[in-house]
Amino acid sequence: MTNNFIQNCWKNLEKNSSIPTKLNNVLILDFNEAKKKILEEDQDFIKKITKSLFEGNFYILKKAFSKEFMINLRKKSFELYKSKPSEFHKMLEGAPDFHRVIDIEIGKKYAIKMCKHSFYFYPWNKDPLKIFEPIYERWRIVKKLMGLDEREYESNTPKDGVVDRIQVVQYPSKVGYLEPHTDPHQHQRLFFSGYMSKQGEDFEGLGFYLIDKNNEIVEVEHQIETGDVGIGYSTIYHGVAPVNTNKTPDWENGEDGRWFLSMFSNASDEVKSRVTSASIKEKFLDKRLYPNFE
Ligand SMILES: [Fe+2]
Repeated sequence: MTNNFIQNCWKNLEKNSSIPTKLNNVLILDFNEAKKKILEEDQDFIKKITKSLFEGNFYILKKAFSKEFMINLRKKSFELYKSKPSEFHKMLEGAPDFHRVIDIEIGKKYAIKMCKHSFYFYPWNKDPLKIFEPIYERWRIVKKLMGLDEREYESNTPKDGVVDRIQVVQYPSKVGYLEPHTDPHQHQRLFFSGYMSKQGEDFEGLGFYLIDKNNEIVEVEHQIETGDVGIGYSTIYHGVAPVNTNKTPDWENGEDGRWFLSMFSNASDEVKSRVTSASIKEKFLDKRLYPNFE
């Protein structure tokens, strides 16, 4: 087991204090620099970054993907499903890839309220956009940093309990949002997000945010370029606020709004009493975080 050192760093942190829920600071690091140190198992680096993540720091890892990769992924996901009906499939054995238009009404049925257009891809399907290999190249580094085996869950299917899922998401102008929430840390200690759009270029407004110890909203999009990724301890409060709030949402337009890539190892629906993302106790009254229908 090569990951004993990293595992132990996490276990010590988790043994000695409670898991973090609020953001401490936003830090910036080059993805390739972090990758090198993680692969080398640089003990100083691993000790520092695991401690820092456990203290509630959020890292923007610059240039993990190329801008072209992300723009292509946006376009290809939208094109692939353009003429296919919106569907929903539980994470059960044999689940297909699909897309789902989650409008405001449908989005109220989820544990966390949301409004978005999601494209779901599983590793046991045919990988129509050939995205698993380039994404796994990066995901393996982050999995290793989480104390997992680099290829953990990759060949799992729902009957194994935990499965990898790639979700490409379009948050349409004005209505696209995801309530502030925490993600389960049981199977992956860190949330791992890919940024597919750039503030000021592709959209205007808040987008992804985190919540700090004073319950203040912390904006981060101004520090993010298309192709960067973000990592933070899964239980740190975070959410997605509407963008382009003065525009009309256009669900038929693949260029509308803000795009986002989520890579998560989920407990499948074959698991009884599985842990999922949760909405949080505090109610954030900041109107910028929710769609406005005036
Ligand atoms: Fe999340």
